[in-house]
Amino acid sequence: MKLHLKVWRQAGPQDAGRFENHTVEGVTPDMSFLEMLDVLNNKLLAQGKPTIAFDHDCREGICGSCSMMINGRAHGPTRGTTCQTYMRNFTDGQTVVIEPWRARAFPVMCDLVVDRSAFDRIQQAGGYVSVNTGGAPDGNCLPVPKDNAEKAMDAAQCIGCGACVAACKNASAMLFVAAKVSHLGLLPQGQPERSRRVLAMVAKMDEEGFGNCTNQYECEAVCPKAISADFIARMNRDQIGSTLIPAE
Ligand code: SF4
Ligand code: FES
Repeated sequence: MKLHLKVWRQAGPQDAGRFENHTVEGVTPDMSFLEMLDVLNNKLLAQGKPTIAFDHDCREGICGSCSMMINGRAHGPTRGTTCQTYMRNFTDGQTVVIEPWRARAFPVMCDLVVDRSAFDRIQQAGGYVSVNTGGAPDGNCLPVPKDNAEKAMDAAQCIGCGACVAACKNASAMLFVAAKVSHLGLLPQGQPERSRRVLAMVAKMDEEGFGNCTNQYECEAVCPKAISADFIARMNRDQIGSTLIPAE
């Protein structure tokens, strides 16, 4: 397969940036999108030109670092991470536009690499359990309703990739924050800090410059881990309750 790429190039955060055209040949259907970019980078290296910077680590859909817009969609045409998107989803001769995440809170560092440390700071604001939970208890010592356990596991699947922010016209981080608030708030160990957690994480989200939710559901549509927008409603209920009855 031969592809025509329009790739965003930006030397640094202050650079205006521009699209650059490239042609990649010898692409096979079983290559991942990142492997296709590796082919292009090898070609650029051989020509003595600067390679295209992009983030990646696990290449297994786990770390959440392979963030990029592909033809205007976060992570590309399938509902998976970019590293788990395969070239069989593209056609020979197709033009593919590749851009970094678009959000003020995720400034572009270089080419397709954005700074997602705002997510880390939201986590640091309250996305943890600081009480001493001791060693792993016997399974039946701490009863957890099955529904809660399953919902907590669903929420815990969030890999912090930022696709939800990139897809949202408000650049809202509500789905990410809701997943992090919920996976702790649904379990017994997360109860002592539940109110403080949701208030602190939402406040930090606002401070970092993310927008608010206006129920567009774009976040849910692109989330590679299928995090449900229902978690946003749950977080809003948690936040309102915590505002009315503040934590001590
Ligand atoms: S909620 Fe989904 S899209 Fe958003 S950061 Fe988590 S895994 Fe990525
Ligand atoms: S490189 Fe880790 S999720 Fe894609």
